Amino acid sequence: MAGAAQHAHWSSRWAFIMAAVGSAVGLGNIWKFPYEAGQGGGGAFVMVYLLFVFFIGTPMLVAELSLGRRGQLSPIGSMKKIAQEEKRSPLWGLIGWSGVVGAFIVISFYSVVGGWTLAYMVKSAMGAFSNIDAQTAQDTFVSYISNPVMTLVSHFAFMGITIFIVAKGVQGGLEKAVTYLMPALFAILLVLVVYSGFTGDFAKTVDFLFNPDFDELLYKANSPEAIAAGGATKVFSLDMVLQALGQSFFSLSLALGSIMTYGSYLTRDVNVGRSALTIAAADSSVALMAGLAIFPIVFAYGLDVAEGGGLVFMSLPIAFGQMPFGIVVGTLFFGLLAVAAITSSISLLEPPVSYVEEKTGWNRRKVAITMGVAAGVLGVLSAYSQGDNMLSSISIFGLSIMDAKDFLTNNIIMPLGGLFTALFVGWFVSRKAMMEELAMEDKTFRIWYFLARFVSPTAIGIIFIKIIYDTVVG
Ligand code: PFF
Repeated sequence: MAGAAQHAHWSSRWAFIMAAVGSAVGLGNIWKFPYEAGQGGGGAFVMVYLLFVFFIGTPMLVAELSLGRRGQLSPIGSMKKIAQEEKRSPLWGLIGWSGVVGAFIVISFYSVVGGWTLAYMVKSAMGAFSNIDAQTAQDTFVSYISNPVMTLVSHFAFMGITIFIVAKGVQGGLEKAVTYLMPALFAILLVLVVYSGFTGDFAKTVDFLFNPDFDELLYKANSPEAIAAGGATKVFSLDMVLQALGQSFFSLSLALGSIMTYGSYLTRDVNVGRSALTIAAADSSVALMAGLAIFPIVFAYGLDVAEGGGLVFMSLPIAFGQMPFGIVVGTLFFGLLAVAAITSSISLLEPPVSYVEEKTGWNRRKVAITMGVAAGVLGVLSAYSQGDNMLSSISIFGLSIMDAKDFLTNNIIMPLGGLFTALFVGWFVSRKAMMEELAMEDKTFRIWYFLARFVSPTAIGIIFIKIIYDTVVG
């Protein structure tokens, strides 16, 4: 436990909030949220998503931040220490392990997509999207992700930036980076919302994002075979509702040790409950603003709202290629994505780094480089599994390497980690210890305790059962 004695701390509450918002706001908000909202019928998905963020995600933020702060160690060290204090099994340390290992896997492929954003920023600045049509936009993307050299360079460029920041430590690296990058992120987002508002179809966007259509959320198209056989064209399905719950977890950076690690750098004077609410509010506002920036363009240029993962990389470039100042707007947009991804990726490298630092006592630079390069090498497998790239023919249970890692983390590690974290704070840590840690007003504490004890584990448990059912039966 060599690093434990000089465990770092944030220099202020503000620095912590910016770092945590930086972690939460990422590709999940600007890339994933808009396309999922597009597929889930807009307003209804947004409403359900916000309910999950505030009633399930925020109590979990509180839980992770308080566990981290109480432990003052890496997620693994903190969980073991608290379990011991509470006279519980050391096996609770597995929650820490699943976070640290999960974060390591996620950063390995998060960095691949981070690399795409850097490459697309450069492409846009060089005018590569001028007047391209839908086919060319698709060909451009596929030929890029299929190129072993380009994808390797962009992935390691992104990982290199992440390592550089993490190597400089909590105050000198993380804090400094977010104090420059977060204001830049907000400024670019604001410019894009205003630009889209004036030039795109803003009225339709507001209607789409805020006028709920529950049919779209709760029914999905029947299989082509059933339709061909004359069956109903739509069937009831909770897929998108559960998707919204999963997305709320990913977006708040839960269950991967990131928030717990950031919590361990907190001092006792910070109010955890109020901080969690601020983080959740900022995170959802950015997701909504990303929608307000993207959909006016989607509608004005006749693009498909339900396009899916290609929305940002294959559809938007068509619009950037036609609109006035498209080069500037496109470059700013991909720059925004890159910044959002970097402030999240540093929080993903941090849990493994804090653990190895604590375990080995090596200096931070050495640990950051070792872990970053290791995750980078693991990430090459993901990068090369895309398009027609070198490993694209490898399939793990029918999934590409990238999708298999995504499945393992999103569908197994994160729900299980979240479930056991909720059970731990709700049922295995004494109520007194939690009250003392949170120092909340009595009424607020009771609301939090109820949500953490009953609501979160039930909701996460349902998701997990559904995932297993779909995987095994579906
Ligand atoms: N919250 C980030 C996003 O929305 O892109 C991703 C993320 C970062 C997830 C850190 C989990 C995490 F621990």
